[in-house]
Amino acid sequence: MAAFDCVIRGGEVFVSQALVRCDIGIRDGRIVALGEHLDAGDEEIDASGRWVLPGGVDAHCHLDQPMSDGAVMADNFETGTRSAVCGGTTTVIPFACQFKGQSVWAAIEDYHQRASQQSYADYAFHLIVSDPTPTVLQDELPRAIAEGYTSFKIYMTYEDMKLNDRQILETLMVAKSAGAIVMVHAENADCIDWLTELLESAGHTTPEYHAKARPSAVEREATHRAITFSELVDVPILIVHVSGAEAIEQIDWARRRGLNIFAETCPQYVFLTSDHLHDPEGCGHKFICSPPPRDQANQKVVWNGLRTGTFQVFSSDHAPFNLDDPKGKALHGKNASFSKIPNGIPGLETRLPLLFSAGVTQGQLSLARFVNLTSTYPARLYGLFPQKGVIAIGADADFAIWDPHATWTIANADLHHAVDYTPYEGITVTGRVTETVIRGRVVQRDGRLLVEKGSGQFLRCHAPDFDLM
Ligand code: URP
Ligand code: ZN
Ligand code: ZN
Repeated sequence: MAAFDCVIRGGEVFVSQALVRCDIGIRDGRIVALGEHLDAGDEEIDASGRWVLPGGVDAHCHLDQPMSDGAVMADNFETGTRSAVCGGTTTVIPFACQFKGQSVWAAIEDYHQRASQQSYADYAFHLIVSDPTPTVLQDELPRAIAEGYTSFKIYMTYEDMKLNDRQILETLMVAKSAGAIVMVHAENADCIDWLTELLESAGHTTPEYHAKARPSAVEREATHRAITFSELVDVPILIVHVSGAEAIEQIDWARRRGLNIFAETCPQYVFLTSDHLHDPEGCGHKFICSPPPRDQANQKVVWNGLRTGTFQVFSSDHAPFNLDDPKGKALHGKNASFSKIPNGIPGLETRLPLLFSAGVTQGQLSLARFVNLTSTYPARLYGLFPQKGVIAIGADADFAIWDPHATWTIANADLHHAVDYTPYEGITVTGRVTETVIRGRVVQRDGRLLVEKGSGQFLRCHAPDFDLM
């Protein structure tokens, strides 16, 4: 019998925050040895010339999420996670969304059915709390947290999702007492509605007005308000999909006051600008997401935040709607007003290569910062560490094996999601995940899937680790 089920040999492996040349011995899906000249494995993977990094943890993506306006997401758990693993992500944390009037447990059961036997990646769930009734607050949420759903997202905008200030405070209290982390979508709903009405009544309905209806001030105000609630309740929060300088200023200000505020940003805020919404060929709707992409000056500030530690998490916020689909971006017709176009863009497969290339290859980010932002910190914040997010003895054998020198151009035809476009079409990147390994099994090699759907396992999350810095 071989000493190991699998040995990954000859690569440069990211261990203890640096690349070291060593082999990895795997047994029963876990890392059991790290060292040179390990004995043989039943299976051997030659990683020479390549970098073995922890598999990515995408802590913000939407899969098979029913929409109240009737829009239908292009990706379900099969196609979304297929795309994730081909981009080097081994764990995803999508949302189980409570709609108003629904119990949290009904939402959890619904999403388990959607994911069951479908996923290529391992997966956990965040909850979305849209109806914090007394039963939800006193009974359902504490029980869900105890059973491994230790994070939930709340919205300050969107009619069907938003909580008022009092409801936010009450939800934060539950997170504090039961040990969860709350993710906040920070945009001021009334300001957006008011601006939208003004714009639409002046005949401004094309996609570029989406950004004008949701300016930075709207995000800044809500970010500040969320921070204030976090301070009043004395519980950490994480602000999701931070788009630019004004929200960052609030987050940095809060930290200087000693508040425990965490922050996430996404590819759209460093690779897109609001100019993309202004597409003369009428394709601006493919970039509609909220908050909207800003300008180049804001991109620079987001890059600085990625470098210096404002951000702990870099997620895709994959929210997949087809362009030419009456159930997708064209839900209300091709010339519908911006306010009627489903929000969100795809990005599960492109998240890691985009950041690796513009960050690590081009020298804007250290490799350690890249790994922390895309794998280790999300695993820690969302209670999956040290099972996920690290290459260490005892951890799950989840790896993205990179050719750091491969240069390629992103084309939707080559991606593995079920969306009919990528907002990153035509961007050339250097750095490519050639193999993805989950619990010791190679799940994809050069974009070819080697396992069946359903090989991904459900993960229960532990308490968040707020001690990142
Ligand atoms: O536009 C976006 N971001 N859509 C996805 C839903 C959300 O708010 O994250
Ligand atoms: Zn959001
Ligand atoms: Zn989202």
